[in-house]
Amino acid sequence: MSRHLLCLEDLGEQGLARVLQLAGPSGAGRPLSGSSVALLFEHPSARTRNAFEAAVFQLGGHPVTIRAEEVGIDARETAEDVARTLACYHRLVCARVVAHSTLERMAGALDAAGLAVPVLNLLSNKEHPSQAVADLLTLQAHLGELKGATLAYVGDANNVSRSLVAAGALVGMRVNLASPPGYAMSEAELTWASGIGGEVHLFEDPAEAVREADALYTDVWVSMGQTAEKAARQRAFSGYRLDEDLVSKAPAHAIVMHCLPAHRGEEISAGVLDGPRSVVWEQAANRMHAARGLLAYLLEEGGAAQ
Ligand code: CP
Ligand code: NVA
Repeated sequence: MSRHLLCLEDLGEQGLARVLQLAGPSGAGRPLSGSSVALLFEHPSARTRNAFEAAVFQLGGHPVTIRAEEVGIDARETAEDVARTLACYHRLVCARVVAHSTLERMAGALDAAGLAVPVLNLLSNKEHPSQAVADLLTLQAHLGELKGATLAYVGDANNVSRSLVAAGALVGMRVNLASPPGYAMSEAELTWASGIGGEVHLFEDPAEAVREADALYTDVWVSMGQTAEKAARQRAFSGYRLDEDLVSKAPAHAIVMHCLPAHRGEEISAGVLDGPRSVVWEQAANRMHAARGLLAYLLEEGGAAQ
């Protein structure tokens, strides 16, 4: 893989296995001792920012969190120049961006300059890879072997579901996607999914999607940056709530997952989110372990010391 991690599938099976190993309790050591890591945010964050700050500290380093408005990406200076500036001081540049292309431009600028500083995606409009690593840790803890397991995702084709599809492809887990008309994966996305070895099945009826699932997953109906579509999305998704009725259609052992933030009574009922099958707080806690695994892996794979 390239030294950067913009999409989960870029890890490949072996890379993902190593990330999961480094995220584990045996620890990744202190490879960041004496170094710092940039954490840049164009969108708000509770879990990702705190998980990564804590993980950087645990690896012996110092996190520097930057809100996009402080640096003015493509306003005060270009995304490329922001990346090159951050690479003067930090071992890694981690960024949550509005447009995935911003990450590609940052990574491209560092490559063109011959700098061995990895860029890590902390959520874009395309993927949310660090979330999917945390979700795999959570799934493994509850289901054990994931090869042959089924995850049913109720919601749209978005950053979270794309990274879950990529995760499924790497570990041999089937992903059922239940979406309202107009919000499902496109033909191009299905081609991408099968190209990386994913087994994806599309459903319009969420009850059918969850029937044989080991894990049920949902995410907000309106992702960050989609507020203009809010009313239309709330109408379209009204039959796609993960509530007690839908959960009753799934096998008794199925766990309930949500990346958070959640909107009780919208994409998930309060009873299901806070109920006995819910593992959402384990997912949130695993964000930090996943962050440690990803950072340690990227350092191991080519983030040269400065
Ligand atoms: N799940 C997640 O990424 O949460 P934040 O947006 O709070 O970081
Ligand atoms: N799909 C959501 C995920 C939030 C963690 C969003 O992009 O807002």
